Amino acid sequence: MAASRVCAVAELETDAAKRVVVDGIPIALVLDSAGTVHAIGDTCTHGDISLSEGFVEGNTLECWAHGSQFELTTGKPLTLPAYEPVPVFAVSILDGDIFIDPGERIAV
Ligand code: FES
Repeated sequence: MAASRVCAVAELETDAAKRVVVDGIPIALVLDSAGTVHAIGDTCTHGDISLSEGFVEGNTLECWAHGSQFELTTGKPLTLPAYEPVPVFAVSILDGDIFIDPGERIAV
């Protein structure tokens, strides 16, 4: 599978999440306050909730439903009730555009 362009970095807000779908896989993109773009699975492992509707807290994306915080770099939930991780996808940036290959996971 090849990497697909998902959007421009300029379309992201710092410390906020944006939902994109790549090859049918929902992904939450997060631009952290250090300027790094993260891409993690958008579906909470505790319920069918879009994590990109939640909140960025430091290095985590928090599910709004029951508060589990998923680490952006590992996909692991740091707080209950979720206990299974979400996938983390490799992000490439070329000329200000973000590319993701959903087959290229750096965690899970
Ligand atoms: S649905 Fe996400 S923590 Fe419950």
